[in-house]
Amino acid sequence: MKKVIIRKTEEIENWRRNINSEINFIPTMGNLHNGHIKLISTAKNDNSNVNLVSIFINPLQFDNKLDLENYPKTIDNDIKISFSNGADAIFIPSIEDIYPPNNKNIKFLKAPEELSSALCGLNRIGHFDGVCTVVYRLLNLIKPKNLYLGEKDWQQLLILKNLVLKKKLNVAIKSIPTQRDFDGIPLSSRNVHLSKNERKLIRFFSSELVEAKKIFQKEKKIYLNEIIKKLLAKKISIEYLEHLHPHTLQKAKIGDNISLLAGAIRCGETRLIDHVFLMRRRPIIAIDGPAGSGKSTVTKLIAKKLKLLYLDTGAMYRALSWLIIKESIDYKKEKKLQNILKDISIVFKSNTNSHQDVYVNNYCVTKEIRSQKINSIVSKISSIKEVRKFLVEEQRKIGESGGLVAEGRDIGTTVFPHAELKIFLTASIDERAKRRKSDKNSKDSQEIDLHSLKELIKKRDFEDSTREISPLIKANDAIEIITDGYSINEVVEKIIDLYNDKIPKEAEIE
Ligand code: PAF
Repeated sequence: MKKVIIRKTEEIENWRRNINSEINFIPTMGNLHNGHIKLISTAKNDNSNVNLVSIFINPLQFDNKLDLENYPKTIDNDIKISFSNGADAIFIPSIEDIYPPNNKNIKFLKAPEELSSALCGLNRIGHFDGVCTVVYRLLNLIKPKNLYLGEKDWQQLLILKNLVLKKKLNVAIKSIPTQRDFDGIPLSSRNVHLSKNERKLIRFFSSELVEAKKIFQKEKKIYLNEIIKKLLAKKISIEYLEHLHPHTLQKAKIGDNISLLAGAIRCGETRLIDHVFLMRRRPIIAIDGPAGSGKSTVTKLIAKKLKLLYLDTGAMYRALSWLIIKESIDYKKEKKLQNILKDISIVFKSNTNSHQDVYVNNYCVTKEIRSQKINSIVSKISSIKEVRKFLVEEQRKIGESGGLVAEGRDIGTTVFPHAELKIFLTASIDERAKRRKSDKNSKDSQEIDLHSLKELIKKRDFEDSTREISPLIKANDAIEIITDGYSINEVVEKIIDLYNDKIPKEAEIE
């Protein structure tokens, strides 16, 4: 594709009509550094869409005239950098193009008070209104499928996510972690203004945040006053240093699994922001739903893509059922059941095909627990109160330090009610019956006609959702995904987008 530079809004409309492709959009204000390069190259590697970089110094988001005048302008170099890192087109509009005088169609937006009055909004009056206005204008002109933004400007990212949601814009926001320089300070276009000494001070500030994160990992505590004292001792001028909930920007609470420690300091004329995310444990995704919704396939793929542990709770009920059959235990007798629960060990281990094997008392049962015999008993076993209590505890032990995606029927409601992301995966009865019928590995595909399969599924749904202990119900805060008409990959991508929306990419980085 021929690389183009577009300067007029009329040209952008023509270009959009001619490219015949979806667009990845990377908005910038120029003076591109490795942070921008990462955004452009991530967009390029993500998909085969056309990548458009915009370079526009937006006067509306500067609260200080001098800052606007001094903002570094390096347009020739920016063009080279953009094209050599994956941009197919660069949009360099003039101020009149973006804000044509007397054009009543241009909307000047207000950022939501609850998000824009905290942190940077305290001192940069009107800044986020300006950001919303320009991004909304650009999105309306460009109509991209994906918008790429850095997590470095976390508050901006939250406000723009809110804008997309409120205005019901059909664009997915993809974020990348803060990119840091060799000495640990976050890359920023304004860093060019720093003297050697100012840079040293910022390095100190960033390393204090990293240190706070390390202490938090060990002690689950944050010593804000200590950090402030240390910064003041170095004569660093602090604009703010706050410990907040990462999405609401309200004060962090003890129960918040993920929180944000964010600060802004001034060094000479330059103002710099930095932050770290603190986690009590790694994130948990809970995926519940009825049989045939595609839960297992989707959960396994998500575990692989997000490098999370895959916890198949159904396999644990099957493993216990296997032992009960093997040892001919009369599970209706409480004492006998207690004995077996006392001694059983159920362990998951990755095998050489990067799948997971299930072991019961050190014996691999992966294949055997999928037999017809187990199918016929597992539902009964899993509705026994003591069994549920025992296995839920085991599951919680496995999930103690997080970092897992668990599938089942009561994960979001009972096992991990504090999971960061809860999905209720389902599909219509017609769709689930069709899937079971076309599953070559399932005996149903050969032995049962479609109508009877539908009846069976209805019966199982009824039993599952009306049983007394841990019935299959959607948790209040779960997101329902109806998978009819979607491919497995589309469902996986959707869940990963939802995960990325909740969990900052950099939260998992040490
Ligand atoms: O983050 C920036 O560089 C700017 O705020 C943005 C998103 C390009 C809007 O001008």
